[in-house]
Amino acid sequence: MATGKRIGVLTGGGDCPGLNAAIRAVTKNAIQLGYEVIGFLDGLEGLMNGEHAILDTIKTSGIIDRGGTILGSSGVPPSEVENRSAEVFYNFEDLSLEAIVVIGGNTTMSIAGMLSKKGLPIVGIPKTIDNDVKETDYTIGFQTAVQIATDALDRLRSTAESHNRVMILEVMGRDTGWIATYAGMANGADAILIPEIPVDIEKLCEMLKERSERGKRFSVVVVAEGTKLEGKIIAEYGKPGGVGRFLEGIIKEKAGLESRTTLLGHVQRGGTPVAYDRNLATAFGVKAVELINAKKYGEMTALKGNRFTSVPLQEVADGIKTVDLNVYRMAEVFFG
Ligand code: F6P
Repeated sequence: MATGKRIGVLTGGGDCPGLNAAIRAVTKNAIQLGYEVIGFLDGLEGLMNGEHAILDTIKTSGIIDRGGTILGSSGVPPSEVENRSAEVFYNFEDLSLEAIVVIGGNTTMSIAGMLSKKGLPIVGIPKTIDNDVKETDYTIGFQTAVQIATDALDRLRSTAESHNRVMILEVMGRDTGWIATYAGMANGADAILIPEIPVDIEKLCEMLKERSERGKRFSVVVVAEGTKLEGKIIAEYGKPGGVGRFLEGIIKEKAGLESRTTLLGHVQRGGTPVAYDRNLATAFGVKAVELINAKKYGEMTALKGNRFTSVPLQEVADGIKTVDLNVYRMAEVFFG
């Protein structure tokens, strides 16, 4: 039903499970409130190029459980969007939009904050498996990634046990160790290494050696990709990655223990979202449209405790949310 009211939606940055559930929720709630909905293709690229598709209830049916994003996504540097903001405003007017919903992580939220400051009616929805967006307890995709990493750790533990080995799992987390902490805690890992806490290699190797001498035939270690070892981030192709293999060498050398590394990589970002992420995405999608309907722009949907609420984009724009060290300390009780 075309009523003249129109909103746009896009997914920006790296994908994660639950994006389609959010697109579905935005679209279906908006249509119920009398809006027409368009989806920008390939994230902020689509917003700058004007490339879009009409979203309706048919296109957004049956996608709540589908991984990836039906709209496509891209990583665009904030400076590029800033330089091309005239094109963004042109497309906004040209497509007769009332507001835009951007579903993204930290970079996308700071771009949204910048566009909001320039006067674009915009609302954000936080997503990233890294769970490092400020002012919300959880982001879409995080719980699914934790489940995938936990399943991997469980499997690694059983093979570790058979061979008297140290099994290392490297998980995503460029700047923060949310996935490592929550998956490690769920698995009962023997050590969790995260960017927030400097690694004491000697202590770690001592603990692994002592465990083996005590007759514990194996150890499981989870490490976030952005964790510094010997004062540096291990990077492959200019991005954090490879810290697990590096650690493997150190453990062999200092503790004399055989170890193997698994780099979980993009498996964490793909596939079916767990129920938690579908519900979070659905609630955030509904909330984002409510904000637009109330003309409350410049906000990001957020979860605080059990409450779905919103926070000003300007409060989210800079910085990241690091791991709650109280939770880390609880996981640490079971180390060694
Ligand atoms: O931001 C999520 C994230 O999964 C990071 O943890 C990881 O470093 C990065 O994306 C990988 O991004 P790309 O797909 O560009 O390699």
